[in-house]
Amino acid sequence: PITLSQTGFVHRDELTYPFEERGLQFGDGIYEVIRLYEGTGYLFTEHIDRLFRSAAAIRLDLPFSKEQAMNLLTELLKRNEMTSDGIIYLQATRGSAPRTHAFPGDVPANVYAYVQDMPRKTEKLTTGASAMTQRDTRWENCYIKSLNLLPNVLAKQAAQENGCYEAILQKDGIVTEGSSSNIYLVKNGAIYTHPATKSILHGCVRIRAEKFAGDLGMPFIEKAFTVDDIPDADELFLSSSTSEIMPVIKVDSSQIADGKPGSITRKLQYLYEQDAA
Ligand code: PDD
Repeated sequence: PITLSQTGFVHRDELTYPFEERGLQFGDGIYEVIRLYEGTGYLFTEHIDRLFRSAAAIRLDLPFSKEQAMNLLTELLKRNEMTSDGIIYLQATRGSAPRTHAFPGDVPANVYAYVQDMPRKTEKLTTGASAMTQRDTRWENCYIKSLNLLPNVLAKQAAQENGCYEAILQKDGIVTEGSSSNIYLVKNGAIYTHPATKSILHGCVRIRAEKFAGDLGMPFIEKAFTVDDIPDADELFLSSSTSEIMPVIKVDSSQIADGKPGSITRKLQYLYEQDAA
């Protein structure tokens, strides 16, 4: 497998990483996960736009323009002869330098990207997933796709230890998002989700979900809902590049409606599949 690094394209085994690396020591960096279907990137532009927004937010200079990033990732797919369903993982950090909290001065960013096979989660997309609510203990800038994922890691782990697929994060009872997804509630024919403030990651699939809702003539309301609203929901679903648009059929001890994926969620899934194909 070929990896894109700051020194160009290298074989995965040749990519070494210094131990004094700001991504490792401070989580001082950002990342993207881009979905691939049959080797082709989905929502490429949206992901690259967000990468640049995250970089600007942490004052990180990326060593390429948006257009160059697009070309480099396209070349990465080509060199790997990628034809399967998978992802691109891309990470950029504030470089390698002796450890000191403040920016290290004139040090170039460390960037790498690689491809990985990842089949679609067909079974859960069909039957739906379960989730567990947990307190959102993250910081105020969750719109930055930062490498600091410890709260997300701990939340996901706790969810999985309780037999759940996702952790639904709440602050003062208000649902922000999932540990690695955006969360939506359907009630009386309208879709509700937390507004795209600094408290959530502005998901690329979320942008699409809003468009699909528009295509269906359904209200897409950026208004937060609460944990207490969940048991009375008509439908619940989550979205992310790796999970697509996935029905959520159980949250904590509450089954959502009849415990089957809802009809609106299934319509959105259909539009997603058409769009991604
Ligand atoms: N995570 N919210 C959080 C906290 C996320 O980590 C993600 C994605 C999303 C959905 O964003 P998008 O639709 O652009 O994938 C929302 C990726 C998949 C990850 O960390 O693996």
